Amino acid sequence: MAMTPVSPHDVLSPAVPVFAAPMAGGPSTPALVAAVLRAGGGGVLAGGMRAPEEVRAQVDELRRLLTAGCRGEEHWGVNLFVPDAVTTAVPAGARTAAARARRRDDVAAYRERLAPVAEELGAALPTIEDATPDSDAERDAFEAMLAAAEEQAWPMVTFTFGLPAAEVFGRLAAADIVAGVTVTSTAEARAAVRNGAAFLVVQGPEAGGHRGTLDPAADPGTTGAVALVAEVSAAVGPGMPLVAAGGVASAAPVRTLLGTGATAVAAGTAFLLTPEAGTSAVHREGLRQAAAGVAFTGDDGAADTAVTRAFTGRWARSLRTPFMAAFPDAPAAYPEVNVLTTGLRAAAAQRGDLGRVHLWAGTGAGRVREADAAAVLASLDPR
Ligand SMILES: Cc1cc2nc3c(=O)[nH]c(=O)nc-3n(C[C@H](O)[C@H](O)[C@H](O)COP(=O)(O)O)c2cc1C
Repeated sequence: MAMTPVSPHDVLSPAVPVFAAPMAGGPSTPALVAAVLRAGGGGVLAGGMRAPEEVRAQVDELRRLLTAGCRGEEHWGVNLFVPDAVTTAVPAGARTAAARARRRDDVAAYRERLAPVAEELGAALPTIEDATPDSDAERDAFEAMLAAAEEQAWPMVTFTFGLPAAEVFGRLAAADIVAGVTVTSTAEARAAVRNGAAFLVVQGPEAGGHRGTLDPAADPGTTGAVALVAEVSAAVGPGMPLVAAGGVASAAPVRTLLGTGATAVAAGTAFLLTPEAGTSAVHREGLRQAAAGVAFTGDDGAADTAVTRAFTGRWARSLRTPFMAAFPDAPAAYPEVNVLTTGLRAAAAQRGDLGRVHLWAGTGAGRVREADAAAVLASLDPR
């Protein structure tokens, strides 16, 4: 097979300039990405919260479903979380012993507040030790992901939750892998370009799931996706490809975002009810209720979403649930808070208790459709 150097534009320009966004925790599957690719779009597998060997198996499965072609025509990639041990975006002040001790105290205090909920649900609450990440293990796992990218020759990587060092981008570029970063502000966009990102995923506040804010302790920006794409495009120049994300539920915003300077658009929530997605039963039920207007709606009857740190310690948009209202001031501590709430979320899901699980969804949640991935892609096709 002839190998030609891969440019970001090749990878980011499928016939339908819409990508199935990465969605960790189950929704992103090789079947979903393959279905969107076959229908003419692009897609990104979710490497977050998975072991490197699981990600390798998903890539093998995707290739099997696709019947691999020339790499330059492969409009897919893998999204990787950048752990705190690896990111260059955490301020030095957050890495001091005093800051670490404060964080641990905050997590311990939050754990105390979660204890009655865990008890009521009969769920185990991990110890602070078990919830605290091991920096060496984080570095090793990240390195194993990069090795997988190189050995399996992924066409594209997107990073989120942090900014890897310039050497990481250099290493991936040398392996002909197009590497981008999720950013939520112009300052983050400039930093990503400085470190060598080949493209940027510009995520607006409408987005479902986690905000990709580089500094985990920072409050995410509120500039909407369209204005943010315009701002970022002006800040980094027209040569830098941008993938726009956030709240896209129909073809009209896709056209607007492309007209504002985006090379492609990524949609997540719109694909959550497809049969190809691995969305959990409780998540599907919450989305169905929101789309039908029978629950998770605001005073105007429209689907009601909000950003919260209560479930994971990082800001993320979910259908608004009672748990979020009960814990409005959870600490900025990912992954500790995520680990602490894992058992109680699982217990709540088991009972079908939608009030105490996260139901990640963007502002377009009310328009999410029960249809297969090709039909959802067609509904977003700007042409
Ligand atoms: C269930 C869910 C899980 C997500 N997981 C990830 C992830 O693992 N990595 C990531 O970069 N973004 C993640 N996101 C954000 C999406 O990649 C994307 O930015 C977002 O879905 C776009 O907004 P929309 O949902 O309104 O289309 C997730 C979003 C959802 C809804």
